[in-house]
Amino acid sequence: MGEIKGQVALVTGGTRGIGLAISERLVERGVKVAAGYSRDAEAAKRLVDAHPEADITLHQGNIGRAEDCERVIGEVIEQHGRLDILVNNAGINIDKTVRKMSPEDWDQVVRVNLSGAFYLSRAVLNHMTERKHGRIINISSVIGLTGNVGQANYAAAKSGLFGLTMSLALETAKKGVTVNSVAPGFIETEMVTAMPEKALEKVIAQIPVGRLGRGDEVARVVEFLADPDSSYITGEVYGINGGLYM
Ligand code: NAI
Repeated sequence: MGEIKGQVALVTGGTRGIGLAISERLVERGVKVAAGYSRDAEAAKRLVDAHPEADITLHQGNIGRAEDCERVIGEVIEQHGRLDILVNNAGINIDKTVRKMSPEDWDQVVRVNLSGAFYLSRAVLNHMTERKHGRIINISSVIGLTGNVGQANYAAAKSGLFGLTMSLALETAKKGVTVNSVAPGFIETEMVTAMPEKALEKVIAQIPVGRLGRGDEVARVVEFLADPDSSYITGEVYGINGGLYM
């Protein structure tokens, strides 16, 4: 079914945390990575410097803005000549109970975590269907399956990604494009280590495997779904959560 080597992947938030692990895993497989980032230009530069042999391009933009998403997709296709794999990884959280959550807190989290995936998928869709090949992988969260106190905006956005994934999977099923979600549990990145220590201890105590997950443990599932041979898997959710939710 063709090789992943030489293909081109856009990984949003691809210079840090889980996104960095995904970028590096794809680079190891010979994929040309276009890494998106919002602000941290230093981290972006570190990714390029760490892989002088690889064909990595950097794309700054706010995925909460449709114009930025369209520009980034255009840039990647122009610079690499193609775009095979879109990993909608970038995300944020603004945690508050619903009573304390402002409409702006809600909108911002939904815009970045959910609308961003829609804007980017929409912008790349014609390119992928014309080439009769594409892989879209949405990084959701176990919180999208369970909900969580203080995370109504985040949980709603991450649940919303499942609906987007299934609908888009149906719309593209006959066109060589697959669309899947992964739902990580608690993974050791800044998003999680920023939690208060006591809250983190409580979380770890609930994880059957007894520890936080690692970015590379998410990245290996993304790599699997991105592979050209994974063409019969679409509309699915892959949990990576150490048994936290089953
Ligand atoms: P992180 O905070 O380390 O990285 C987030 C990335 O998103 C950064 O690279 C940042 O540049 C990018 N980003 C944020 N806002 C953006 C915007 N408006 N436009 C463009 N890029 C933007 O987070 P982490 O932990 O690596 O999370 C990655 C994804 O995995 C997120 O979608 C997160 O919700 C999800 N996730 C994380 C879990 C965890 O335990 N760390 C668990 C489940 C899901």
